[in-house]
Amino acid sequence: MAKIVIQGGVPLNGDVMISGAKNAVLPILAASLLADEPMDIGNVPHLNDVTTSMALLGEMGVQLTLNEHMRILADPRGVDRFLASYEQVKTMRASILVLGPLVARFGQAEVSLPGGCAIGSRPVDQHIRGLQALGATIRVENGYIHARAGRLKGAHIVMDMVTVTGTENIMMAATLAQGTTVIENAAQEPEVVDLAHCLIAMGAQIEGAGSNTIVVHGVERLGGCRYDVLPDRIETGTFLVAGAITRGKVRARGTRSDTLDAVLNKLEQAGAHINTTADSIEIDMRGNRPRAVSFSTAPYPSFPTDMQAQFAALNTVAEGVGVVTETVFENRFMHIQELVRLGADIQVKGESAIIRGVETLTGAQIMATDLRASAGLVLAGLVAQGETVVDRVYHIDRGYENIEEKLSGLGARIRRIA
Ligand code: EPZ
Repeated sequence: MAKIVIQGGVPLNGDVMISGAKNAVLPILAASLLADEPMDIGNVPHLNDVTTSMALLGEMGVQLTLNEHMRILADPRGVDRFLASYEQVKTMRASILVLGPLVARFGQAEVSLPGGCAIGSRPVDQHIRGLQALGATIRVENGYIHARAGRLKGAHIVMDMVTVTGTENIMMAATLAQGTTVIENAAQEPEVVDLAHCLIAMGAQIEGAGSNTIVVHGVERLGGCRYDVLPDRIETGTFLVAGAITRGKVRARGTRSDTLDAVLNKLEQAGAHINTTADSIEIDMRGNRPRAVSFSTAPYPSFPTDMQAQFAALNTVAEGVGVVTETVFENRFMHIQELVRLGADIQVKGESAIIRGVETLTGAQIMATDLRASAGLVLAGLVAQGETVVDRVYHIDRGYENIEEKLSGLGARIRRIA
């Protein structure tokens, strides 16, 4: 199993290019199932989850080619299977995103229930309830969601809680329904907006994406389109925190500064100097020790749960006490005990972790447990004195393209060993 080895203590300095957003390209790939012409998708990150998605769609009959510019051509005209098997779904929960498109376009789907994962039980009841409201008949048995439908009919749906992929599944299904669908308490994440923009480019009629009420006027068909995925705001935030924790100066390029307000505010509270342009964000710590920050994670535009582990790591070496509260997932503190192995002073009380900054962390062997937790552990390794070895780095590869190369480019002493 691959490991990442880091010699900590080097202030990072320089520019890093940000890749396309994993959590936008996954629903956009699933949206190809809605179309009757090929889609040309650009700014695709080279990630395991993207490869997994392409394999899943390929099994259904979508013809997928990746050209030399990392653009994916997805041609859905040969789709003749409507199954997402347990084997496929257990490696990537986001496979659930084929459910809405399959039901809307083909009137049938057999999709394995995604199991839980390290960060929580992650049920999909909202996905199912929304599709039933649109007229689908859904039976859940033997670990599979069995869905059948004639032409879906628009409905007025109020989500019980904010769910990103739940909103995306229902929005996709509604594009081909007869009549109008209103989705209230919808997720407002930039990745939901990016998916809506792509669907509109395919011929869908959608209003209100990015607000908590999305209105979809169903159409007869969706065509192909050429669409470039938005930059990854979580990768951007992760590299900015890398600059902050090592007291360096890092500029994230090829990104957007309008999707990270809550994160940038917290970095400024931590004492960082932030400069933004239309497509870059620079953080400069001017060699100063960060100040501790407190926050609660919540749906966009509040502080993102996917940045919680990274800021927990920042707080471990900050001045003062930071209280980190995780309200989205019920078990997203697995990185805390690993940070304690590096010498962090953290107490977990219910949904909150109380983190007292220490002068230095010391390197140790630690283990990644989920995608964003592992990024937080790498950040702690960048500042820990001595050598840190992060095990189970396959978690990192799911969400970060060549993380050790990008960090090396900023001066980090980091390498991957088999
Ligand atoms: C998306 O997951 C992201 N994944 C996650 O990113 C991200 O952490 C999460 O949104 C929150 O922002 C993708 O977009 C592929 P939710 P998702 O449905 O949609 C509960 C990463 O690191 N819920 O918004 O699965 C659920 O248990 C990943 O890239 C229900 O109860 O998250 C959770 O407590 C990790 N029933 C809360 O809602 C449902 O039917 C929010 O989950 C759906 C969700």
